[in-house]
Amino acid sequence: MAETIFDIDCRDCPRLAEFLDSVNARYPDYYCRPVPPFGDAKARLLVVGLAPGMHGANRSGRPFTGDHAGILLYRMLHRFGFATADESLSVDDGLELQDARITNAVKCLPPDNKPVGAEINTCNSYLANELQTLAPGSVVLALGGIAHRAIIKACGLRQADYKFGHATLHTLPEFRLLDSYHCSRYNTNTGRLTEEMFADVFAEARKLLDN
Ligand code: URA
Repeated sequence: MAETIFDIDCRDCPRLAEFLDSVNARYPDYYCRPVPPFGDAKARLLVVGLAPGMHGANRSGRPFTGDHAGILLYRMLHRFGFATADESLSVDDGLELQDARITNAVKCLPPDNKPVGAEINTCNSYLANELQTLAPGSVVLALGGIAHRAIIKACGLRQADYKFGHATLHTLPEFRLLDSYHCSRYNTNTGRLTEEMFADVFAEARKLLDN
């Protein structure tokens, strides 16, 4: 799948394809396919999450939509001028992203929210192709260490040269990479990622794009 950034028919990861089939049998109304990137095709802000959540993106078909992880993310996108509404409810709610797009390092729902290394690697060519569509001056926001490492791999760079750190800005050859802890329910409930911390990261992204 050389240049494509997304393939709704992809079944390259046997474990994930079988898992999607079994979840679909249990929840026939759920989307249960690889979840496409959402937002502006020409966006200068690309937010990279981990993988669809069972009752969120895997149900709705839109990244971070329908579960807890998306609440803070869409609120921030709206607050900093990247979204027309502060909530993402469903694929047909009319919400639009402005100069922003959301994608996942792994496009299919993984068991226990945990893709294995081989699955992250298999899905990596889609991410690599998507990163290549970015305009000069773009900012990529990695949500969590797995997304961060998937981005470094997709760029063919050495992990040891770019360590994940919350609110750390990395200057890569093709774009700026800004890291944040993932906005998961666990991280927000435990206070590892507070609303203020996340707002500071978005303020930085806004500043980088505006200057
Ligand atoms: N939903 C997504 O689409 N991605 C995540 O990383 C978490 C929830």
